[in-house]
Amino acid sequence: MGQKSLFPISGKLIIASHNAGKVQEIADLLRPLGVTAISAGDLALPEPEETERTFIGNALLKARAAADAAGLPALADDSGLSVEALGGNPGVYSARWAGPTKDFRLAMQKVNEALGTASNRAATFVCALAVARPRNGEAIFEGTVQGRLTWPPRGRHGFGYDPIFVPDGFKITFGEMEPRQKHAISHRANAFAKLLAAWRAT
Ligand code: IMP
Repeated sequence: MGQKSLFPISGKLIIASHNAGKVQEIADLLRPLGVTAISAGDLALPEPEETERTFIGNALLKARAAADAAGLPALADDSGLSVEALGGNPGVYSARWAGPTKDFRLAMQKVNEALGTASNRAATFVCALAVARPRNGEAIFEGTVQGRLTWPPRGRHGFGYDPIFVPDGFKITFGEMEPRQKHAISHRANAFAKLLAAWRAT
């Protein structure tokens, strides 16, 4: 089933995440579409293991699992930092590089150490969004923002790898940017713009 028959979605939409902050952010972004967003955590849906090797694969896996378990359409995202000189790592393992205590100082340090003296500091934040209907029907949207890595980390805003990422065209890191400025250019904003455009086109 293509995107034309997937949208529009009315009524309830599951946000296939157990991260309350992420669910809130996605629910806000979807508000203009008039759907009722419900989190997978609220429905106590199981959290599938992210076994795929691509952002799109993992987003699809999470959306499909939630849609089939709840019998309702579901939206999932998967995101991370892909570093060119590290062959795309940490990539889909971005959260895992922070370890069980989710220590992103450590994760940023690992990235910096892995880069060593490499002159290529190019990196891309990627966000994949997947929408799935129960049993069949799915659509995917991918957004990116390109930049370069800097060291030491700078800034107190944002989260994750933001303090070492300088988006192209800027001199400051995502960590130094006002959240509104980051949200205007981020990989997530970019992916959601594509999703909203496809939804509204139907
Ligand atoms: P996910 O929740 O499995 O998609 O993991 C995404 C991980 O990628 C996060 O834990 C962060 O480490 C990283 N990440 C994704 N988006 C951003 C961002 O906007 N800024 C900083 N780090 C990000």
